[in-house]
Parts: sequence; structure tokens; C-alpha cells
Amino acid sequence: MGYSYSSAAVAVSVLVVALAAAASGQLSTTFYASSCPTALSTIRSAVNAAVAREPRMGASLLRLHFHDCFVQGCDASILLADNATFRGEQGAFPNVNSLRGFEVISSIKTQLEASCRQTVSCADILAVAARDSVVALGGPSYPVELGRRDGMTTNQTMANTNLHPPTTDLGNFVTSFAGKGLSPTDLVVLTGAHTVGVAQCTNFRSRLYGESNINAPFAASLRASCPQAGGDTNLAPLDSTPNAFDNAFFTDLIAGRGLLHSDQELYRGDGSGTDALVRVYAANPARFNADFAAAMVRMGAIRPLTGTQGEIRLNCSRVN
Ligand code: HEM
Repeated sequence: MGYSYSSAAVAVSVLVVALAAAASGQLSTTFYASSCPTALSTIRSAVNAAVAREPRMGASLLRLHFHDCFVQGCDASILLADNATFRGEQGAFPNVNSLRGFEVISSIKTQLEASCRQTVSCADILAVAARDSVVALGGPSYPVELGRRDGMTTNQTMANTNLHPPTTDLGNFVTSFAGKGLSPTDLVVLTGAHTVGVAQCTNFRSRLYGESNINAPFAASLRASCPQAGGDTNLAPLDSTPNAFDNAFFTDLIAGRGLLHSDQELYRGDGSGTDALVRVYAANPARFNADFAAAMVRMGAIRPLTGTQGEIRLNCSRVN
């Protein structure tokens, strides 16, 4: 009896481990431990230097990983430049004249090609650079699962349909994240990435001039740099502390100081939708940090290419 009980327990735990491995697509935190032991330190040094030069770069690198993972999975498709046969994701509406940080990734790749030829994928560089950016700006650290391979295609149409504009309502985001295997909690906590970085006037103008659930002095202060006509590329911080990874994004939302319509959708103030969760993260920064780290690991595991799928690119901006 005791024996059969423990075999069953072992069988169950083996199954649980197998399912967990399948869920993360056979990724592993020690993937480069013997093939390129300097990979992680090389990426960390480069990210730290880039963020020291310009804190916003940490935000930009974090966003690159998100925009990569939401289109065809985390396969570095976002890094492929246009060529004669395809129009890449960089030209898609949410990305064009907005995504940045490509040169930091490219310089990391050049360094890694010199030390570990054709070993470290561009998709993994994006995932590690995102984590290191969060840490450099004062956020939580977490082990990054590695072993993604690089995709050989890119899909501008998919980028336009999978990355929604900031005028979108909560329900559509919940559906979109569910399509990637992410929960409404993941949606709220990952959008908490807007604790760092900035947005262009064109992305929040309609909120400034057309919405009533915005803090009045906050809106007035933004209207000066984001007029009703012109100034499309003028920048404003996504929360009150744009160079610090903290939980001010959530306390700002409760005060009606969400910059994007999509951000304020997370807190409508009537107890509906995800209001309660925003209150939890506003009250508990440690909980935000822990949940953010776990959600980043889940986002980083969206449909990775592994094993013999895809390739290890030599240059992140083109297929081999
Ligand atoms: C839920 C839906 C989301 C929408 C609609 C959205 C939309 C936007 C928009 C419109 C901007 C400003 C772009 C510009 O004006 O050039 C932005 C910036 C940013 N987003 Fe999101 N975002 C979302 C979720 C996320 C997630 C999940 C992450 C990361 C995990 C993220 C990370 C960032 C960061 C860090 C910035 C600032 C980038 C910089 O300063 O260069 N966003 N987002």
C-alpha cells in the first residue's frame, strides 16, 4: 500500500515536472552555462552602461521584449529589418517611430559573436536585456529561462492585430492576453511596466481632450506640451517616476493620473474590472515586484522556438 502510494506520488510529480517543462517550451535558466558562460555578464554590463547613459533605454529595452513576444512568440522577429521579400514588424503601427534600443541589442550581439560564435540567440538577448533593464531601474530580479531560437519570418500584419492601440478598452486586452495564455492579473501586472518610460502626445491626446476620468490639474499640465494640433512626438512620462521601477504607476492610476486610456482602463474607480488588483499593487510594492517577475517569465515563454527549430542568427536584423 505504502509502495503503491509513493509510486503514484512519484508518477504525479514526474507528470507535474514534465508539464512544467512543456509549458516553458524546454527553456532552462542554465542553457548557456557551458556553451557561453560569459553570456549573462556580457548582456548585463552592456545594459547597465546603456541605462547609465540614458535611463529611458531601460524602458525601451523592456518594451522590445514585450513587442517581440506578442507577435509569433518570443523569436526576435521584432529585430528583423525590412528586405526585398518581406515588410517587417518594425514598420507596424504600434512600432514605427516608437520602438527603440535596436542598437543596444545589436552591439550586445556583436560582442557575443566575438566570444561565443553563433551560440546565443537574439530572442534570448532580448529576454535577458529586459530583465537587466528592470533591475537597473530598481525593479526585481528573476532567473530568465533561456534556449529560445530565432525565427526566420516576421509578420507586420500580425503585429498590427496583436498589439492593440492605447485607445483600446479593458475587455479587448483581457481577450488579447488570454490568447497568449496570460490572465487578467498578468495583464495588470505586466502593464505595470509603464512604471518606467514615456509616451508621445499622439498616443494620449484623445485622453487629454476627450475623457472625464482624468485628474484635472494633471490634464492641464500635460496640455501645454500636447496641444490639440501639433506636437505629436512630444513626450510625457507614463507615471510620476519614469526612471524608477516602483509601484507609482498604480497609485497614479487611483488618482486618475493614468497617461494612456488603456492604462486608466485598469482602474475605473467604480469597483469594476481590475480596480481591486490595482489597489493591491498600489498598497503592496513587494507583491507587485514578485508578481511582475513571475509574469515576465510567463510572457517570455510565449511560443518559443527550441531544439532544431529556427536558427541562431549571426546578425539580429536579418536571417542567416
Ligand atoms: C496592455 C497593453 C499595452 C498598451 C496598449 C501599451 C501601449 C504603449 C504605448 C502607446 C506606449 C508609448 C509609445 C510611444 O508613444 O512611442 C508604451 C510605452 C511603453 N510600454 Fe506599453 N503598452 C502595453 C503593455 C505593455 C507591456 C505588457 C509592457 C512590458 C511588459 C510595456 C512596456 C512599455 C514600456 C517600458 C514603455 C516605455 C518605452 C520607452 O520609454 O521607450 N507595455 N506602451
